[in-house]
Amino acid sequence: VWSNVEMGPPDAILGVTEAFKADNNPKKMNLGVGAYRDDAGKPYVLPSVKQAEMEIVSAGLDKEYAGIIGVPDFNSAAIKLALGEDSQVIKDKLNVTTQALSGTGALRVGANFFNKWYSPSKTIWLPTPSWGNHTPIFKHAGMNVSAYRYYDPNTCGLDFQGALEDINKIPEGDIIMLHACAHNPTGVDPKPEQWQELSQVIKARKLFPFFDSAYQGFASGDTDRDAFSVRTFIKDGHKIALTQSFSKNMGLYGERVGALTIVCNSAEEAARVMSQVKIIIRPMYSNPPIHGARIAARILNTPALNQQWLVEVKGMADRIMSMRTRLQEGLKREGSSRNWQHITDQIGMFCFTGLNPQQVERLTKEFSVYLTKDGRISVAGVSSNNVDYLAHAIHEVTK
Ligand code: LMR
Repeated sequence: VWSNVEMGPPDAILGVTEAFKADNNPKKMNLGVGAYRDDAGKPYVLPSVKQAEMEIVSAGLDKEYAGIIGVPDFNSAAIKLALGEDSQVIKDKLNVTTQALSGTGALRVGANFFNKWYSPSKTIWLPTPSWGNHTPIFKHAGMNVSAYRYYDPNTCGLDFQGALEDINKIPEGDIIMLHACAHNPTGVDPKPEQWQELSQVIKARKLFPFFDSAYQGFASGDTDRDAFSVRTFIKDGHKIALTQSFSKNMGLYGERVGALTIVCNSAEEAARVMSQVKIIIRPMYSNPPIHGARIAARILNTPALNQQWLVEVKGMADRIMSMRTRLQEGLKREGSSRNWQHITDQIGMFCFTGLNPQQVERLTKEFSVYLTKDGRISVAGVSSNNVDYLAHAIHEVTK
C-alpha cells in the first residue's frame, strides 16, 4: 500500500539528538536541540516546578478534561507575563488567549486561524534565518512563506538596514514574524531603539506582527526586559498575534505548555475570534493536557513561587552567559586569531558560530560535537567540564 511513500530526511534539529545518541565517544556533546543543562551537563528540573508539582499532587485535583482552550488560570497568567500586570489590552478584554501544545502547537493553531480568517493576505514573512520549524508549520497550514533579511553573516550580527529595506517592500496586509527575544537560531536581537523603529515601519506598511516568544527570561534573565518588543508594539497600537512557550523558561519541555494570543479591536470581536479558535482546536486535539499548565499557572499565580522561579530563570540565563565568556576565552587561549566577539554579543540559548557546513561536519566527525548544520550551538548544553574541549575542537576546525 505504501510503496509510493518516499523516505524523508531526519529533522534538522531533533535528528541531531538521534545521531548523538548513537555515538559512543565519552566526550560527545549534544549542542543541537535547545534544551537547558545544568553545569554537570544534566537536564534540570527547576525547584519551583518540583514545588508546584508537589502542591498540585497533594491538592488531589481530578483529571477531568479541560475546556477546549485549556486551564483558565494558566491562560490569564501567561498573557499577563507577556503584556505586563497593568496591561490595558487585558483590562479591556481584547486578548483571545488559548492554551496550546507549547510554542509549536500555538504557532500551528495560529497559522490555521490566519489561513481561514485573515483575509488581507495568506503570506507570512520570516526573518532569514528563522527557526527551522516555522516554515513547515505555516506551509502545512496552507500559508505562503517569504523571507526578509535579518542576520548579517559578515558581522554575525543584525542586518538592520537590510531588514528595514526588505520590510519596506512587503505588500500591505501581509504578516510578519518577529522573534520576541533571543532570536532562534542566531541569538541576535534588535536593540530597544531598533524595535521602536521596526514598530513604526511595520505600522506604516500596515503589516500584521506575529510574535513568537519562546525565551522570555532567557535572554536577559529578566522577564519584563525580554517582553520589551511585544510591549512596544502593543503600546504603539498594533494588533498582534503572540505565541508563548514555557518549555525553556520553566524547563517544561515534554509537558508541552504554551499559549496563543490574538489581540482584537474590541471585546465583542474577541468573543467572535475566540469562538473560531475553538472550532479550529477541537478537531485537531480536542483540548490540551492539564498537568504542565497547572504547574505553570501555580508558579505564575503564587507570589512566593513566582519570585523563586524568576531567580531560577536568571540563574539559567547567567550560567549560559558565563559559558559564552568561557568559550570565548578558551578560543583565545587556544590561539585562535578569529574574531569571536559575537559569542558574547549574541544572547539567549543559542550561538550562531559562523562555522560553515564543512567545519560543522568536522566538529561532529572528529570531536563528536553535535550541532545543527547551520553552525548553531545550544550554549545551554555547554558546561564547566566540556567548555575547554569545545573551544579546542572549534579552534581545530577553524584555524
Ligand atoms: C530548538 O530550536 O532547538 C528548540 O526550539 C527545540 C525544537 O523543537 O526545535
